[in-house]
Amino acid sequence: MPFLTLNDMNFRNKRVFLRADFNVPLDDKGNITNDKRIRETLPTIQTLLKQKCKLIIATHVGRPEGKRVPTLSTKSIAIRLQELLGKEVKHVGGCVEDEIENYVAQRTYGEIVMLENLRFYPEEEKNDVVFAQQLARLADLYVNDAFSVCHRANASVAAITTFLPCCAGLLMEKELKHLVQVQHPEKPFIAIIGGAKADKIGVIKTLLPKVDKILFGGVLANTMLKARGYKIGRSKYDEETLKVAKEILMLGKSKVILPQDFIMTNKPDKTGTVSIEAVGALSDELMAVDIGPETIAEYKKYLKQAKTIMWAGPIGMFEVEQFFHGTKEITECVANQNAIKIVGGGDSAASVEKCNLQDKMTYVSTAGGAFLDFVEGKKLPAIAMLEQYYEKHIGQYKKED
Ligand code: 3PG
Repeated sequence: MPFLTLNDMNFRNKRVFLRADFNVPLDDKGNITNDKRIRETLPTIQTLLKQKCKLIIATHVGRPEGKRVPTLSTKSIAIRLQELLGKEVKHVGGCVEDEIENYVAQRTYGEIVMLENLRFYPEEEKNDVVFAQQLARLADLYVNDAFSVCHRANASVAAITTFLPCCAGLLMEKELKHLVQVQHPEKPFIAIIGGAKADKIGVIKTLLPKVDKILFGGVLANTMLKARGYKIGRSKYDEETLKVAKEILMLGKSKVILPQDFIMTNKPDKTGTVSIEAVGALSDELMAVDIGPETIAEYKKYLKQAKTIMWAGPIGMFEVEQFFHGTKEITECVANQNAIKIVGGGDSAASVEKCNLQDKMTYVSTAGGAFLDFVEGKKLPAIAMLEQYYEKHIGQYKKED
């Protein structure tokens, strides 16, 4: 890989700034509901700690837009990390203030400090150079293990790399190693695209020339059906995406596979009614919340032929028990295929974990937006910065690949 990794640097008795992505789902009280992103970063943290460095860990959480939002503090994350590591993690209430700098300076090697949410500072998302320099002052070396935010040109993943020697962490390496398999897929290549938002429409255009079939679920399935002229009742769709959806139907032709039937409800929660309805005869007053039996059978038929499967976004409202069936059937089918099976996106990962089938997938990425941008072939700005650092300092480091 054209950037440095943990093996290329000596961290002993150094102050190390570790940018992680601990943007984990939190409930309204600020409790962590899924700690996968924290667990996946443990190998990097443990490798660094073995070298007795002083570790300064930073992350963003949510989208507080430059304001201090108490429920988005990194405090609960520091506590969870401490539990997982079995080692004290000292949480501080800021990132770049003088007292934080002094506090970090007083820590000894081997200690861990977790900074407050980087996005409490508007400068973070502006890729502000002064803010990046202030962060860099805390450390001697920089490690980026936050693949899932590398599609954002933010100060702590982009501008900071101009102030410190920098390398990638183990999770970053692992993500890239697996995700290239989707960029160069073995055929037949089947993609499943679902989710509660229509934000994956961009990746579909890029995927079309590569895929054999795209199986649709969630809001995009409803939007594509609407674009094809079907009535979809009260099902959620995205008005702004309709034009692109029509284009995809034209370009994709027989590659685009849409649901033939749905599980419909009057209320998208556990008190809602459950009925199976065929596309073409969907009730005006109901909404689609899962795929129906005909669709499950058809999707399974395609999945059984696949050599590579890419899955982004759950197929239905899997978090509500009576609408979980389609997701469960498709997850089990994917898990049982003798193929490369790559799953991306927080909700897809959660749906696979709900089925307890994560170990049967080739890889479940920690990333959502970054996963899609990478698959789309976009250059991720923060990875470009790591590469730039390596290019500039190539002479200082021996590297074989
Ligand atoms: C993610 O969850 O995809 C990353 O942490 C990036 O978060 P963002 O979409 O709020 O920038």
